[in-house]
Amino acid sequence: MKPLIHSFENETEFLDSALNSILKWMEELLNIQSEIRIGLAGGSTPKKLYELLSKKKLPWHKIIWVILDERCVPADDEESNFGMIQKALFASVPKENQVVFDTTLPPNKAAEQMDGKLRELEEARKPLFDLLILGAGKDGHIASLFEGDVSLFSSKWAYATKAPKEYKTKERLTVSLEALSTSRKALLLLKGSEKKPVVKSLEKGQVSSFTALKHLVEKVATEVFFCT
Ligand code: 6PG
Repeated sequence: MKPLIHSFENETEFLDSALNSILKWMEELLNIQSEIRIGLAGGSTPKKLYELLSKKKLPWHKIIWVILDERCVPADDEESNFGMIQKALFASVPKENQVVFDTTLPPNKAAEQMDGKLRELEEARKPLFDLLILGAGKDGHIASLFEGDVSLFSSKWAYATKAPKEYKTKERLTVSLEALSTSRKALLLLKGSEKKPVVKSLEKGQVSSFTALKHLVEKVATEVFFCT
């Protein structure tokens, strides 16, 4: 499936458009089901969107939020995705609706624990995800699914992995491509000129060099929001 791509020069319009798409999708789903599951990317791009979301009057008890990848650092580390999301969004989210990696555990144990949490969710209701809010690196990675990752096609729902040497925190935890591919819909937020090659590849339908992204857009209806 070719993704729907929206390009913006103004950050406020970029964020408002992505926010409105999320709210509309939430409303549609909550008219037909009692709870929804939303996967959350870390990194820097989605932070302001999460802050806008946190100010909305949402049925917080009906939304389960899953952090899609984590750096193996303590929650108070500046690299922590949980730390960023806790400040930006989770103040309004009941603890039991926060599905996160436990980085106090050894990486493989933390991955096993998340695998179990996601299997419970999927057994309770399919699909596992109703919406993914993703970013992508300038190298095209999503979550912590990096090019050449030996576990990219793992049948597990989560695993421990390593980021390439240029990344500050190499020890990572990630939800798998198979788990992401269950989602009904994905939003991909890209900000900055260094992300333009990824957008161009998506526009041309030539994302083969970004394996995880290629498989995602083939399986999941994806809407791209790009701001220069
Ligand atoms: C992470 C993210 C990752 C992120 C991209 C883009 O833990 O780094 O989950 O997949 O979305 O690296 O990051 P920026 O939004 O900071 O460019």
